[in-house]
Amino acid sequence: MVNWKGLIHHYREYLPVTDQTPVVTLSEGNTPLIFSEHLSETLGLNVYLKYEGLNPTGSFKDRGMTMAISKAKEQGAKLVMCASTGNTSASAAAYAAKSGSLKCVVLIPEGNIALGKLAQALIHQAQVIAIKGNFDEALNIVKDITDNYPVELVNSINPFRIEGQKTAAFEICDFLSDAPEFHAIPVGNAGNITAYWKGYKEYKQHNKSQQLPTMLGFQAAGAAPIVLGKIVENPETIATAIRIGNPASWKAAEAARDESNGIIDSVTDDEILEAYKILAAHTGVFVEPASAASVAGVLKLHSQGYFDDHKNARLVCTVTGHGLKDPNTAIKNVQEPVTMEANVKAVLEEIGL
Ligand code: F0G
Repeated sequence: MVNWKGLIHHYREYLPVTDQTPVVTLSEGNTPLIFSEHLSETLGLNVYLKYEGLNPTGSFKDRGMTMAISKAKEQGAKLVMCASTGNTSASAAAYAAKSGSLKCVVLIPEGNIALGKLAQALIHQAQVIAIKGNFDEALNIVKDITDNYPVELVNSINPFRIEGQKTAAFEICDFLSDAPEFHAIPVGNAGNITAYWKGYKEYKQHNKSQQLPTMLGFQAAGAAPIVLGKIVENPETIATAIRIGNPASWKAAEAARDESNGIIDSVTDDEILEAYKILAAHTGVFVEPASAASVAGVLKLHSQGYFDDHKNARLVCTVTGHGLKDPNTAIKNVQEPVTMEANVKAVLEEIGL
């Protein structure tokens, strides 16, 4: 979109901001909805990828963070804090830097955050504290501190985060001229599925769309508390972004599932990696592993015949974060490049020309 000034500017009438709100923006939002010929053919549907990795810090978190940081600034906060598996910390750090006045502290689970995300939080000058525990434990500490000290919490239990993130659903409806029939999305702390569902419902209420999608949420099998119906004490998955055992928006995610007649299911790490590679190799879209959970999930449902009666329906898969966030996983899943002498003949031979 020409002249895009960020999602608060564009969707102001649907957001809790006033003329007094100091808008802290990095021109987030307005991400592409990419039609995938390959996945459409595989699934017998019209499949689109909402490529959220193209937000300013490389994930969908920027949608919520422009709202949370703007409102924190409006309310006179000096310090913001979050727990994070990586992307929230990267986004909070960047928006705090842009605010010009807010300091940012982030708690991360030691050893379980992708390299790019750690680099982002640090280079944007957040105070980064790695705890010997998982995300759920980090979030409990942050809740404790922000409940008792003048510190603004910017995790997705902050309602302004959900407000910002719901705009992704608006963009999809604007692009397709309606909501799709199905919407697939990875589920970790469960804020994003909550936000999309809120967005779809609000847009319909405002007559900006005619229908609501069926929501399809996917957790990693080793971190699937909603699917199992119980807290997972020691969540484990290669998709570190969604390595969460006790999601904060658990109830709201279940409501999105039930109200939309949808599903929250799990996908194994192998299924996630397979979808991760398909996305890169056959759609040209490089995502981080957690993002591929949405595509892994719909491939699984397809194999079970779930879409059989829905030929050519529209399916949007949110792919939540950029592949460059986690270079280590990419490198581990490809062939090392060959090394050879610097001459034309050798290169031609290698290519087979
Ligand atoms: N995909 C990515 C790339 C994420 O970073 C997250 C969450 C999710 C999916 C799941 O979204 O939590 O709203 O259900 N990352 C959080 C973080 C937890 O700290 O960056 P959710």
